[in-house]
Amino acid sequence: MIDIAVLISGGGTNLQALIDACARDDFPARIALVISNNPGVKGLERAEKAGIATTVINHRDFETREAFDDQLHEALNDCGAKLICLAGFMRILDARFVNRWRNRMINIHPSLLPSFKGLHTQERALEAGVCFSGCTVHFVNPELDDGPIITQAALAINPSETADELAARVLELEHIIYPQALRLVAEGRVRVVGNKVTISGAEYSDQKIINPVPE
Ligand code: GRF
Repeated sequence: MIDIAVLISGGGTNLQALIDACARDDFPARIALVISNNPGVKGLERAEKAGIATTVINHRDFETREAFDDQLHEALNDCGAKLICLAGFMRILDARFVNRWRNRMINIHPSLLPSFKGLHTQERALEAGVCFSGCTVHFVNPELDDGPIITQAALAINPSETADELAARVLELEHIIYPQALRLVAEGRVRVVGNKVTISGAEYSDQKIINPVPE
């Protein structure tokens, strides 16, 4: 059993997926602390409802990014977390912090990385006319939305759907792959080799999808 901390900034639907997974008897991780950089967000309510300790570390209270990151680091050490899950955490962490937690911090991003790093991923996917979207769980590197990929999920885009509709469908997949990736990491099955991971005992899909569907 590994103790984790989840960092959020908002609604926390991915946090909820992790809370639900950790509630299962056979799940190898436990949430020791939820940290939000924004007070009053729904994600904090979700954690409190589940009886999980929470704390707010408001970045607006700090003069520098380093001072904010130091406070985060202290809270994480104090709660005994061995792994950080970023779940909609909307602050960029400085390289020093990221290096302290290298290979011990994972993130979920709503695109098929390395495509569409940053914000507004589904709008940009629709604008680019790509036929697939999806989401990625990866270890965090100092560069934004970068780092060894653990799991991905893909779906076919219908060009007439809106970015919000697409985002909602991707979010459903996020709620599946984030607990899956956390389980793999917590079980010690994920090894980082250079820029890639190897996962012991993983089964890989041979599914092929063509979009639009051939007539
Ligand atoms: C998700 O789309 C996640 O991929 C991104 O921020 C969003 C957070 O949603 N990093 P929620 O707070 O988990 O509902």
